[in-house]
Amino acid sequence: MRLRPATASRSPMSHPAYRRLLLLVILGTTRICNAVDYLQDVKPLLKHKCYACHGALQQQGGLRLDTAAALIAGGDSDATISPGKPDGSFLLDVTTGEIGFQMPPANEGAPFTDEEVHVILEWIAAGASVPADELPEADPPSWWSYRPIERPALPEVPKADWCGNEVAHFVAAQRVRNDLTHVGQASK
Ligand code: HEC
Repeated sequence: MRLRPATASRSPMSHPAYRRLLLLVILGTTRICNAVDYLQDVKPLLKHKCYACHGALQQQGGLRLDTAAALIAGGDSDATISPGKPDGSFLLDVTTGEIGFQMPPANEGAPFTDEEVHVILEWIAAGASVPADELPEADPPSWWSYRPIERPALPEVPKADWCGNEVAHFVAAQRVRNDLTHVGQASK
């Protein structure tokens, strides 16, 4: 569903975008030499607070946040950010709850702190650079724990009497690969 509310008319000075821009200018002076890096600074915040519902497992609101490109493309409602334009960013409006819609939803995770909002703002203001080879999280069906259990073929081993059971076939095959000899059964 579309989540953008109708624009309310209010004084420009009290507009959240104006206040955020002010925050950006004030806090930005402290980080002039240390530009925000997406992989190092922004991605970990999204991973920690948003991927559970906007990553490989779930794409709530049609939105994935596990790559910068997917973040910029946005979800059902629209694009989340405009690179280079930190003011009026839907992504941050929902994380600060300023549009009456809070992310993460109440009781389902901690919201971004002011410092974290600022880091993301800086990234957007600097043009929201997208790493060329960033891969999304692996899809659950490719995780070993989601794959159906299969019975692998027993590896060939030089001497079958090395193998008391099926697991021992795999141990023996590894022993052959490592050029180790079989020392016989241990005494009990
Ligand atoms: C516990 C699950 C959960 C977490 C964690 C979560 N979200 Fe959401 N998010 C949702 C749900 C559910 C919706 C869809 C709401 C709807 O359509 O009514 C949504 C929708 C959104 C949307 C609107 C998408 C669109 O285009 O309509 C944005 C933007 C968003 N989330 C950003 C975030 C950000 C940023 C974070 C991390 C700070 C986050 N969310 C964390 C559940 C979550």
